Amino acid sequence: MTFFIHTYGCQMNVRDSEAVAAELVRAGYARAPDEDSADLVVVNTCSVREKAEDKALGKLGLLCKSKRERPSRVVGVMGCMAQRMAESLFRRIPQLDFAVGSRAARHIPSIVGEIAAGATQVWFPGELSDFDVPHGHLPSGIAAFVTVLLGCNRRCSYCIVPDVRGPEHSRPAAEVIAEAKALVASGVREITLLGQSVLRYGRQGEDVWAGAAPSPMGFTEPFPRLLEALAAIPGLRRIRFTSGHPSGCTAELARAFRDLPQACRHLHLPVQSGSDRILREMRRGYTSGEYLAALERLRGAVPDISITTDIIVGYPGETEDDFEATRRLMRAARFDNSFIFKYSPRPGTPSAALVDDVTPEEKDRRNKVLLADQDELGLGNGGEWVGRETEVMAEGPSLRNKSRWSGRTSQNKIAVFDPPEGVRPGDLVRVRIVRANPQTLFGEDAAITGRAAAIGKEQK
Ligand code: SAH
Ligand code: SF4
Ligand code: F3S
Repeated sequence: MTFFIHTYGCQMNVRDSEAVAAELVRAGYARAPDEDSADLVVVNTCSVREKAEDKALGKLGLLCKSKRERPSRVVGVMGCMAQRMAESLFRRIPQLDFAVGSRAARHIPSIVGEIAAGATQVWFPGELSDFDVPHGHLPSGIAAFVTVLLGCNRRCSYCIVPDVRGPEHSRPAAEVIAEAKALVASGVREITLLGQSVLRYGRQGEDVWAGAAPSPMGFTEPFPRLLEALAAIPGLRRIRFTSGHPSGCTAELARAFRDLPQACRHLHLPVQSGSDRILREMRRGYTSGEYLAALERLRGAVPDISITTDIIVGYPGETEDDFEATRRLMRAARFDNSFIFKYSPRPGTPSAALVDDVTPEEKDRRNKVLLADQDELGLGNGGEWVGRETEVMAEGPSLRNKSRWSGRTSQNKIAVFDPPEGVRPGDLVRVRIVRANPQTLFGEDAAITGRAAAIGKEQK
């Protein structure tokens, strides 16, 4: 039996899909090359905005229709929307075979077995407090995700994530480090640590460092300490993490960025709004001034750090003045990139009780204004790289022009360059930047400075 997992939503979902795929492979299922040929299709879903749910529901509807021609096909749903809609999914889509809660994905192989034995419409909620979730990996390329923090305890007023992902739980550091070591042994060179508020790692009372020796660099905060421990793994060249929150941008984090060469100079630090009034209503826990102070702390230690963000336009009651405050904050923060979202009321969240009073047209207008502002900022930020040399981790042929290669800089900017003779994915390449557009750098004179394979051999 072959399977395919279709993924919506954030990187955590991408990671969960991989872990479920690894469980299915372990249970004897084979990965299908594409969705059409798969006997089992699982849709991993997102609830963060209504549109994300509409897409997943549309997809599930089509897949279930395909069962008319292929009655033996199994269609299931996992992830945040499955958690939120639960059994009601079977009323909407009667042909759906199974749904699992967001912390119950490890049961998918056995549920598929039950369905093969004749069960129908299986709903397996699991417990949101459960933290026994799959962490297996599939053989992959040079980069991998590692989840370090499940769930979220922040409860921003607009956000469904705490309801669908459950309470925060930090994995023991020893477990994360072992997972990272195994990935490096399999050829991975870059790891991205995932958590909804990843800088809160180890701050919920659980002792993630139980029994460990003190930090050689003298870190006392759990997250910088985790970075330090991962940086000590031979062959792991790059460490990224997402998402940040200003409260985690401490002096120790700034020092970790500065003193650990493996810590990539990039942080995704969602700001959501530049209006202090809206930030308070959103329960974000900081003012625009505190947000900018957090940026200064990081930039003081690492001047070329790149900062990206998320912004919501059209939060209930957002006035033209609030919106202009967001525009001003964007300029003051000099973001390298911004993801702009139109506010979407999510059932059961505190802000869903407010009147969604910014019209769709106005949300659309504010969205476009911020995108244009960001393009201007991005052009300026990209331009600062022209004439400089920078290190890129080579990924492979560029999507647009196969004769050139692309990769990412430490700042997470895409760089395109002519491949030096013999370059392999995972190699570090030094390039001179000659041109920039808002999100891409164009380099010349690429030269290999670090070999992926050489590191692999050192380890043997
Ligand atoms: N945990 C991350 C965000 C996860 S959700 C953090 O707090 O940093 C990703 C983004 O979706 C958020 O940053 C926010 O900008 C957006 N978002 C969340 N809920 C939303 C809603 N109800 N309407 C519109 N955008 C929303
Ligand atoms: Fe949602 Fe806020 Fe948690 Fe991010 S920190 S997932 S926006 S509740
Ligand atoms: Fe991610 Fe969407 Fe769930 S953003 S955590 S998949 S609601």
